[in-house]
Amino acid sequence: MTDDRPLRVETQGRVGLITLHRPQQLNALNDALMDALGEALLAFDADPGIGAIVITGSEKAFAAGADIEAMADLTFMDVTQGQFITRNWETIRSVRKPVIAAVAGYAMGGGCELALACDVIVAAESARFALPEIKLAMLPGAGGTQRLPRAIGKAKAMDMCLSARMLDAQEADRYGLVSRVVPDAELLERTLVLATQIAAFSLPALVAIKESVNRAWESPLTEGILFERRALYGRFASSDAHEGMHAFLDKRKPAFAHR
Ligand code: HXC
Repeated sequence: MTDDRPLRVETQGRVGLITLHRPQQLNALNDALMDALGEALLAFDADPGIGAIVITGSEKAFAAGADIEAMADLTFMDVTQGQFITRNWETIRSVRKPVIAAVAGYAMGGGCELALACDVIVAAESARFALPEIKLAMLPGAGGTQRLPRAIGKAKAMDMCLSARMLDAQEADRYGLVSRVVPDAELLERTLVLATQIAAFSLPALVAIKESVNRAWESPLTEGILFERRALYGRFASSDAHEGMHAFLDKRKPAFAHR
């Protein structure tokens, strides 16, 4: 019996693991996959037993982009009336818990943009990042022209978007596109260790940090600092924050209730 589900979903302790699974198409991101990804992300986000989410692909490809076959004959009316990209890809943005991309092989076009929409990117040595939409006379329209320059600066982003230049993992690390690089054989294990470590921290504090760091991308410094300060004050309403500080003073491990 063939398994044609476009992704696999499992949990490991407080970590939700999503594996993209369209091996014949190098995990090209069609609507079925993106709908399923959105559903899985929202389900983990709503589950109080989950503190962090990992998205990964295969050894050969995290994802080779939006599904070109599915896009090739779409018209302007199809994409505007059908809310192409907006309808399902934007779900990622609404997830409040930390999302970590574990990337091996190709992360191209929409695959690179999916990784950029995650909070942390762990790259295997084999990871390759590119926004090659220009080769199709398209543009990196799933956040690529916006998130990439914020991540690596205008000069490097223009180079990648205009010339389709592909970065290897070490270049991506130097430019600040990824969070860390690990050996291929250790990608999933090391990412799950990181996700487990993150998920053990107080969930409301993680959410407040994610919101605050995202503000740094999206608002002027004064607004961002104001947002951060309100988030900090909010921590004093959290039993976990008092537990964390008292546990330090008592020289014991904190027991977080995620409240
Ligand atoms: C549909 C794809 C695909 C894609 C690969 N495949 N990428 N199908 N959409 N994005 C399919 C191939 O057609 C092929 O199917 C199979 O996967 C294996 O791919 P190969 O090309 O044979 O593999 P390889 O020679 O190893 O080359 C790997 C590759 C190449 C370098 C990643 O596949 C490639 O260049 N892919 C396209 C990358 C790209 O342009 N991405 C951006 C898409 S646009 P068959 O049936 O022949 O075996 C985009 C826009 C997003 O993402 C934002 C706006 C929507």
